[in-house]
Amino acid sequence: MNRTDAFIERAGERADQREDASIGVPLPHESAALHVSGEATYTDDIAELHGTLHAALGLSRHAHARIVSMDLDAVRHSPGVVAVLCADDIPGENNCGPVLHDDPILADGEVLYLGQPVFAVIAESHELARRAAALAKSDDVIRYEPLDAILTATEAKAAKQFVLPPLHLRRGDPDAKIAVAPHRLAGTFEVGGQEQFYLEGQVAYAVPKEMDGMLVYSSTQHPSEMQQVVAHMLGWPAHNVVCECRRMGGGFGGKESQSALFACVAALAAQSLRRPVKLRADRDDDFLITGKRHDAVYEYEAGFDDSGRLTGVRVEIALRAGYSADLSGAVATRAVCHFDNAYYLPDVDIVALCCKTNTQSNTAFRGFGGPQGALVMEVLLDGIARELRLDPLDVRLANYYGIGERNTTPYGQRVEDNIIAPLTDALLDSSDYRARRAALAEFNATSPVLKRGLAFSPVKFGISFNVPFLNQAGALVHVYKDGSVLVNHGGTEMGQGLNTKVAQVVANQFGLPFSRVRVSATDTSKIANTSATAASTGSDLNGMAAEAAAQTIRGRLAELAARQLGGDANDVQFTGGIVSVNGGALPFDQLVNAAYLARVQLWSDGFYATPKVHWDAQTLTGHPFYYFAYGAAVSEVVVDTLTGEWKLVRTDVLHDAGQSINPAIDLGQIEGGFIQGMGWLTSEELWWNRDGRLMTHAPSTYKIPAVSDTPAAFHVRLYDHSNAEPTVFRSKAVGEPPLLLAFSVFLAIRDAVAAAVPGARPAPPLRAPATPEAILDALDALNASHAADPTEPAAPTPHAVLYGESPDASLAH
Ligand code: MTE
Ligand code: HPA
Ligand code: MOS
Repeated sequence: MNRTDAFIERAGERADQREDASIGVPLPHESAALHVSGEATYTDDIAELHGTLHAALGLSRHAHARIVSMDLDAVRHSPGVVAVLCADDIPGENNCGPVLHDDPILADGEVLYLGQPVFAVIAESHELARRAAALAKSDDVIRYEPLDAILTATEAKAAKQFVLPPLHLRRGDPDAKIAVAPHRLAGTFEVGGQEQFYLEGQVAYAVPKEMDGMLVYSSTQHPSEMQQVVAHMLGWPAHNVVCECRRMGGGFGGKESQSALFACVAALAAQSLRRPVKLRADRDDDFLITGKRHDAVYEYEAGFDDSGRLTGVRVEIALRAGYSADLSGAVATRAVCHFDNAYYLPDVDIVALCCKTNTQSNTAFRGFGGPQGALVMEVLLDGIARELRLDPLDVRLANYYGIGERNTTPYGQRVEDNIIAPLTDALLDSSDYRARRAALAEFNATSPVLKRGLAFSPVKFGISFNVPFLNQAGALVHVYKDGSVLVNHGGTEMGQGLNTKVAQVVANQFGLPFSRVRVSATDTSKIANTSATAASTGSDLNGMAAEAAAQTIRGRLAELAARQLGGDANDVQFTGGIVSVNGGALPFDQLVNAAYLARVQLWSDGFYATPKVHWDAQTLTGHPFYYFAYGAAVSEVVVDTLTGEWKLVRTDVLHDAGQSINPAIDLGQIEGGFIQGMGWLTSEELWWNRDGRLMTHAPSTYKIPAVSDTPAAFHVRLYDHSNAEPTVFRSKAVGEPPLLLAFSVFLAIRDAVAAAVPGARPAPPLRAPATPEAILDALDALNASHAADPTEPAAPTPHAVLYGESPDASLAH
């Protein structure tokens, strides 16, 4: 037996042992064996039809320019090229933007960022298409008149250049509260963006069908939107287009809207040539073309009392949106709604700006603006603690939302399911925080170069799409005559285990072992008008829809069973593959067969719309979230203050996934989210040169965490708790919230940096990502400002000593 078979057999055994309980069981991902053996079919693995052609994109060389002329003959005559397509070849709308229609598929007259697709080459092979497309680099092919480019959020803010109007949420009178506060703190902060770095890049394969039909296989979180933009582009009704996605090799938000350009170009080429066309971007092009997490620049000011409790706070969050709106409005809205994180803000003013720049159009990335909103609050609280010489933990505790009081969010929703205090207590206990804090101080007192840092950070994350109508889902469940079950739902599988959870829910309804339920590819011809699989709502929405469908069929089967066995349909039990009532029992498949012969409908649809959610986009108030998910982390790092290198020594996480449907998958999501968040805040640095060229466009220059970056001691546990709202099995969404637990790593590095300059009152001016370079800059700046404070004794950092800089000297330059 080979290893894959052994794996499948073990997984199967485990599943079969749990015949009665498919819920709450740590079943492996339904495709785990396929993932590790390489048998899982991704879009690029779909067997190519005879006559398949391959597309590649010719990209803009300027961040902002007018296209003076294009002479594509050289491209057309390149070996293997079948066609070259431009904006003019698009029969319908030249747009793939999800909200505003400001996203050209191919540039038309003007380029708005360096990397923007200008033309598409269709050739006999992937390699030949790429070779021809690379001619876009030649001046003879496209002539440009360069225009002024604005690259950063700060520049765009100064020029008042936004893709959408500013968002402004205000409660009370923060200015007055800050003015009279016993203490005040004002500051700035910045955090970088982040590339989604899905392992499978953007890809689409379009196959023309009869009567103006198009089947688009797309690696997308949003098949319905791909269907819609392709139809609009071709000037067709939506029913001409089918979009299918079996799985993605990761999406992380990067395929929520931005799979569209690739689906559109493949479909455009397929329609104009009436041949199947595949477009697979290589990693560098993917980096250059697609948007990332929004980077942000912040200005804040706060008033607080002696305990560090906030009395008034103001923040401006300037997000770099890029050249178009994409999902930036919703991202900025979530940033506004997450600024509070886990804290009560009595008087507050929050402004979010979507700055228009000549860079990639930034988009969804795990957390969707939430991390950008909450991070600055944590940095602010850390600063307050250092100002007051308190443990940052205690300042956090002093500001927590209350129970029954101090519990209204700035946007007007009450926090009614608050469990952050007991969760925190449990984590502080299990991580031994207080004792380790004392041990750390001792270590740092005697260690001149290596400094340890420790930090606690909580998360409260609002669950639901913050655009209320998106909170709906559908499913279709088929029970075949032999009793096997096929489920289809509107969600997409991107590795997060959605199909596994949905299958568990359906298996549970029918009392069947997990192995009797199969989930098929997401397909717009099965479930219509689906939302993106996003906002962590995949299993909440699709699990409920699938459960509803299964319940309908189960009801019909129960009636038949009651007729055959006597008794009441409501008393029929479905467990262990057996249906029983009134002392009698039937195997599930026998009952199903009898139902078929009795002409009972054995398939059903199901639908779910999240209750309670509403939102007023004018006032930025309402009830945007059905519930909140909570978590907390404690991280300890050691920083080498000579080199800026650091290591994560230990992390303890306690996270609330409600009553987990699948603890193995949920723990995987928490670990993965944490490590991904750590990458964002420490090693992943996007860098554009002065021309607006993204220079970090491959793993050689863009450093995502590796498995070796996982802390040696990584204690991740689920908080035993059931959702206060009646979600599917009272579980909670888990996809995005754990990313914010990585704040603890960034804050621990800050803590270590602060420890390097003993007695310094100002918080270390550490930017994110905290690369070694950023850490050294922070050490130098902290040392300099400390030396400038006449009330504090100067204490040069080892870095300053090594480079011969006295504190005074470093002040001078
Ligand atoms: N996990 C894996 N393995 N791959 C992914 O692409 N995306 C994340 C998260 N976890 C992602 C992932 C993001 S951004 C979201 S919104 C959720 O999964 C989406 O899936 P869910 O709603 O089913 O949790
Ligand atoms: N998350 C992800 N995608 C979205 C959201 C959200 O909150 N709102 C609209 N699109
Ligand atoms: Mo996730 S950022 O909502 O796709």
